[in-house]
Amino acid sequence: MTNTAARSALFEPARLGPLHLPNRLVMAPLTRNRAGADGVPGPLMTTYYTQRASAGLIIAEATTPNAVGQTYPNIPALHGAHHVAGWRRVNDAVRAAGGRMVVQLQHGGRVGHPDNSGLTPVAPSPVALPETIHTPSGRQPSVVPREMTTDDIRSTVADFAAAARNAVATGFEGVEVHSANGHLLHQFLAENTNRRTDAYGGPVSRRVRFVVEVAQAVADAIGPERVGLRISPGNTVNGIAEGDTGRIYPELVAALAGLDLAYLHIVFADPDQPLFRDLRAAWPTALIANPALGHGPLPADGGRRAGERLLDAGADLIAFGRGFLANPDFVARLRTGAPLNPVREAYTMYTGGETGYTDYPTLPATVAHAVPAGAGVTR
Ligand SMILES: Cc1cc2nc3c(=O)[nH]c(=O)nc-3n(C[C@H](O)[C@H](O)[C@H](O)COP(=O)(O)O)c2cc1C
Repeated sequence: MTNTAARSALFEPARLGPLHLPNRLVMAPLTRNRAGADGVPGPLMTTYYTQRASAGLIIAEATTPNAVGQTYPNIPALHGAHHVAGWRRVNDAVRAAGGRMVVQLQHGGRVGHPDNSGLTPVAPSPVALPETIHTPSGRQPSVVPREMTTDDIRSTVADFAAAARNAVATGFEGVEVHSANGHLLHQFLAENTNRRTDAYGGPVSRRVRFVVEVAQAVADAIGPERVGLRISPGNTVNGIAEGDTGRIYPELVAALAGLDLAYLHIVFADPDQPLFRDLRAAWPTALIANPALGHGPLPADGGRRAGERLLDAGADLIAFGRGFLANPDFVARLRTGAPLNPVREAYTMYTGGETGYTDYPTLPATVAHAVPAGAGVTR
């Protein structure tokens, strides 16, 4: 079968825990810095997510579970009643438009700054991010984070659980624990950011412990069927050097496998990598794969072929970031083969306002509903 026809497993319905998804396309979490300075999502965010409600599932952007975990300015949060009220408006609108969302919970760890959160960042070890960081007054050198005590670890785990309860109270279907891309949980996993000698540092078996404790606490708080976890094996973003990628992730997945979580989400998933195949084989429930589309313009097919290869390799759902960012009707465009809006990178990703956020055009209805001739099942 060819994959050029309009029908494809990507557009088939799927189950995810208790959820029925109308297709297998997931909007990846995308930080866009459009919340208020107090972390409350406003009407602009409601419009943005509602425009993208045709995704099988939306994973709402990295959202802070406690004050010290805030990374950058204008990041949404979920630790106060005002945050709950703001997110409830977003969820009500997305649900009314036929969509469903989970939210990614992200603690930045050393990826943070006192000018953003009002607090000194905390991390597994006092190792500064080797980069400048965006603040309201421009980029500034990173500060050395304070090493987390055992009490800090305990209270952070509790904050994740409380934020997950808040998430469900706002109407989110569940949460994705962010253990990827160099943020706090990934800092515990990686050799160069975790220099601890206690029960949370040292050998891989101890470095995975914090991630497992967070996942367990969140699952206990809202039910494991509402919880996913995102990993990015080998990703060096935010100054990460894992050291032993090939040991960390099999060990982590083995430790998480018994929790009965709804899904594992792998960033830059590559079906040709043995590690991807090993993790797929070891993971007992749904796998969301975010293909490695590379930097620069989106591929002409929007990543459809890459997504189909990952489904063939055992992924259940396929996540795309920039495709959804630039195309509110990404599902229809992928299905019909319609051309994609190019991603406007410069000055719009993280800058606030509607430009490059809610002003990407949709297809005319006549094109969006067309089914090209020659449609056939392609998996
Ligand atoms: C503007 C932007 C913001 C992002 N924010 C997040 C985030 O909040 N959490 C996360 O896990 N990944 C984040 N990512 C990574 C994406 O989820 C995704 O993994 C990446 O864009 C690669 O997928 P793509 O090629 O389909 O865009 C972000 C990426 C971009 C471009």
